[in-house]
Amino acid sequence: MSLLPILIAPDRRLKAISEPVAAVEADVARLMDNMLETMLAAPGLGLSAVQVGIARRIVVARAPDTPTQSDPDAAPRTLMMANPEIVWASDETALMEEGCLSLPDQYADLERPAEVTVRYLDRGGEQVETKATGVLARCLQHELDHLDGVLLVDRLSPVRRNIILRKLAKAKKFKQSDAA
Ligand code: NI
Repeated sequence: MSLLPILIAPDRRLKAISEPVAAVEADVARLMDNMLETMLAAPGLGLSAVQVGIARRIVVARAPDTPTQSDPDAAPRTLMMANPEIVWASDETALMEEGCLSLPDQYADLERPAEVTVRYLDRGGEQVETKATGVLARCLQHELDHLDGVLLVDRLSPVRRNIILRKLAKAKKFKQSDAA
């Protein structure tokens, strides 16, 4: 297994629409393993392939179905998914703070459906449906957005989005000149 470099916004590659996976072959399973290792090392709760520069519909996540990660009942579930799609979303919504490995140190409160059912191909290539609530439901909606080139900042007001992206662009420039 190996750690993969995570793209940081602003980066045009994060705006790509990811392509479906034809089948979960060995290369896809290996990518899932490397993505999971990369996500856990970051650390993060979810990672999409497009964030490591591979525009295919692959997502990994590890999060609990509880309202917070520190909930006493929190038992994180690890999901490795190809071609995930939301087949049901609750009318009930939840307001929750989100972050993103491609938007370091940036957090924002977003309202989204509280529960979702996601259909996907698992690491063994089997079609699976799972209902997620709490932090996991939030995480999966965030990751599936990535597959359509949608970042957390795209769901904020244009003013807020520009402030965050400018901050990140500046930090990137600073890092580059630091390394040079
Ligand atoms: Ni993200």
